[in-house]
Amino acid sequence: KKILIINGPNLNLLGKREPAIYGSLTFTEFFETVKEKYTEVELSYFQSNVEGEIIDKMHEVGFSFDGIVLNAAAYTHTSVAIGDAVKAIETPVVEVHISNTFSREEFRHQSYISPNAKGVILGFGLQSYELAIKSFI
Ligand code: DQA
Repeated sequence: KKILIINGPNLNLLGKREPAIYGSLTFTEFFETVKEKYTEVELSYFQSNVEGEIIDKMHEVGFSFDGIVLNAAAYTHTSVAIGDAVKAIETPVVEVHISNTFSREEFRHQSYISPNAKGVILGFGLQSYELAIKSFI
């Protein structure tokens, strides 16, 4: 099975960005361990700080891959366009967040992804991604 993890804006700074909230591991380090752990799936990773690039990538894989694990980061709360892309493609999308967005500011309670996602996993740190991967296995 082909699974793509997509990370949105500022998640390239994982490890040094607000470690109290997001942890001190870089995503690359985490991704390496996850790839070794879940050898039964073909995992790939894409990160962009640009809304349109995230949408282009979803279109690119969204009719052939078996699953997308999407952390759209702040775009989750603002992007009708990424929400529409989730609906437009055939590949099921699991929405993930590192932090529990519902225990944070009010503006993080809104998601344009959730209504069209297969499911949502949030608040478990980087483990949220692992749980999402497992949902596709
Ligand atoms: C986040 C939560 C978002 O509200 C925030 O803008 C992020 C990261 C998370 O993984 O906890 O950038 O998606």
